Amino acid sequence: MSQPIALITGCSSGIGRALADAFISTGYQVWATARKPEDVAALSAAGFVGVQLDVNDADAVASLGERLQRETDGLDVLINNAGYGAMGPLLDGGSEALRRQFETNVFAVIDITRALFPALRKKRGVVVNIGSVSGVLVTPFAGAYCASKAAVHALSDALRLELAPFAIDVMEVQPGAIASSFGNHASREAEQLIQEGSPWWPFRDGIRARATASQDHPTPASDLARDLLAAIQKRKRPRLLRLGNGSRALPLLAALVPKGLLEAVLKRRFGLNRAV
Ligand SMILES: NC(=O)c1ccc[n+]([C@@H]2O[C@H](COP(=O)([O-])OP(=O)(O)OC[C@H]3O[C@@H](n4cnc5c(N)ncnc54)[C@H](OP(=O)(O)O)[C@@H]3O)[C@@H](O)[C@H]2O)c1
Repeated sequence: MSQPIALITGCSSGIGRALADAFISTGYQVWATARKPEDVAALSAAGFVGVQLDVNDADAVASLGERLQRETDGLDVLINNAGYGAMGPLLDGGSEALRRQFETNVFAVIDITRALFPALRKKRGVVVNIGSVSGVLVTPFAGAYCASKAAVHALSDALRLELAPFAIDVMEVQPGAIASSFGNHASREAEQLIQEGSPWWPFRDGIRARATASQDHPTPASDLARDLLAAIQKRKRPRLLRLGNGSRALPLLAALVPKGLLEAVLKRRFGLNRAV
């Protein structure tokens, strides 16, 4: 039997790198993508097939699909992992920040899956989309991010139905807090919007707290990678996996706590319980 192949996007750090490590140590050939040349070089040096890919680059995505067709006999696992959190007040970021967020977290998931569909079809592979608990429990100063992940969840459900006739599985992961560079990237995004002229300047502590919230008591990314790998290897794979700190409790809160109470808690947590 030929060596199974997994392709994972966003492997420069965090969850992507942990998944790449887990898959290679189980015997997969791992095509690990990153957008910076130095990250690609480090991945190649570590034994992965390092691929330079900005997931928003349509030509690069198309070339990757063609390369997989040319150089492999098909793709067993695609993990759409690359993403970031466009944190900050919705009206400060406007449709520009929202569009950028959706380009990376949502549209790229569909474009990459479409480009890799012929390779996935050959192996009756599995597509794993990394959503987020933030797509279930919506928080302030993360509206664009929460909306993007809710969209990933809905698209995963539709894809699962549409890919079923081709025997391609679709799994959705909703991580809770996972140790990674996510908080650093989210803080960088938030700082671009934290400006004295903004109506939300008085709430900047709450914005900063939201940007780093995923790194409060996080679960190691290697734990998520281990559990996701085990789930992928099951004969009957789960449709949805909630992994990491808060990944089960927060959706329960969203489902069971009355909305008014939940909003009061969120306002207090992020400093929005006062008028200006
Ligand atoms: N950490 C958490 O608590 C948590 C919770 C729920 C969901 N998630 C999701 O998990 C996934 C991985 O995030 P992480 O926590 O591992 O954070 P991370 O350490 O910041 O990793 C994110 C990865 O995505 C890449 N990326 C971002 N934009 C990209 C683009 N346009 N093209 C290519 N790659 C791009 C980053 O590359 P660069 O290094 O080049 O920026 C990096 O490799 C994301 O989808 C995130 O939303 C994370």
